[in-house]
Amino acid sequence: MNRDFNKVICRKNNYAAKYDELELKFGRDDLVSMWVADMDFESAKPIKDAIIKRAEQGIFGYTSRPDSYYEAMTQWYKRRYDWNIDKSKLIHSIGVCTSLSIIVDKFTKPGDKIIVQSPVYYPFFDVVVDNERELVLNPLKKIDDNYVMDYEDLENKMDENIKFLILCNPHNPVGRVWTKEELTRLGEICLKHNVMVISDEIHGDLVYGDKVYTPFASISEELNNNTITCLSATKTFNIAGLQASFAIFPDESMYNIFERTLGILDIKRNNCFSLVAVEAAYRYGEEWLNDLLVYLKSNMDFLKEYCEKNIPEIVTNRPEGTYLAWLNCEGLGLSDEDLVDFMINKAKVGLDAGNWFGEEGKGYMRINVACPRTMLEQGLKNIEEAVKKYIRK
Ligand SMILES: Cc1ncc(COP(=O)(O)O)c(C=O)c1O
Repeated sequence: MNRDFNKVICRKNNYAAKYDELELKFGRDDLVSMWVADMDFESAKPIKDAIIKRAEQGIFGYTSRPDSYYEAMTQWYKRRYDWNIDKSKLIHSIGVCTSLSIIVDKFTKPGDKIIVQSPVYYPFFDVVVDNERELVLNPLKKIDDNYVMDYEDLENKMDENIKFLILCNPHNPVGRVWTKEELTRLGEICLKHNVMVISDEIHGDLVYGDKVYTPFASISEELNNNTITCLSATKTFNIAGLQASFAIFPDESMYNIFERTLGILDIKRNNCFSLVAVEAAYRYGEEWLNDLLVYLKSNMDFLKEYCEKNIPEIVTNRPEGTYLAWLNCEGLGLSDEDLVDFMINKAKVGLDAGNWFGEEGKGYMRINVACPRTMLEQGLKNIEEAVKKYIRK
């Protein structure tokens, strides 16, 4: 098993968006890159081996998905989360965002309303707005640098034009791993108002310590029947470039419409590499993942301690899951525009600006800690030096 998470791998000029799009995104390419959510670690060896074996044949024709593909996935969820996924409701999709967009397009009409809980993964806004549906915000409530759901606000915003709530479970960017109780309460409100939940659970495997990921649809039969779940091995195993994910539809007619749409768009097959990689991940990737989580947690702890000791102007949350931390930078005393400029042009780090995730993210930055410790340390040193030079003076 390859578990050397300290190994620095140069990804520049290797078609990595995280590096090759720095100039495009931030206007310069000399940054410590800690933005888009993929990892600077090699994926698990069984995955790499499966891809190499597949490549060695040298024929890359259309793929046929064997039963064992879905079986590996359903066994993973049974083994790790005691969740029985009905295979007849499960379907492949090339990406979670693709699924979200098709669901919004096919199962709502222009003008219908969709709720998201901001600050949140910004493509949630795009799939609603770009499909010409109305975005309704149910902002999370901040309590001592941690976040909870605002159920009262949610109740107040419910009306008959609301068709879906898009849930992020666990939540990007604030790192909450929602508890069963929190999810149950949310689910009850949605059931009461006839609002279906689309639960994006792409970060479900990335959970720390004693926190427990609860698949929303696994809570009860009623919630199962009211939920479309989007899942993927791509974040867990760092294989986002292979483009493969899953969706689970409780309703047969919705499943059929979704499947037909994939056919119309001609995206119903896996590519030949995702086919073997995803199956290998779910069958043989567990030990690697367990080691990865230990490393990520130690990076999270390092980040927190580093900021507390050296950059007290920046307060980090303590994410319960995801490899993304949410930095409260209000202590720097900068406007939002200046904060972004400071990180790019003074500290020379590439981070996601908090305001990309909604109004509530103003004064915040999101940092991706899924990189070797030396890189994380370099990024933090850069910020510390810039704070000394430009903020404390
Ligand atoms: C919450 C969430 N959903 C979806 C995605 C992207 O999924 P995909 O690449 O399958 O579209 C990300 C990537 O960062 C994410 O954080």
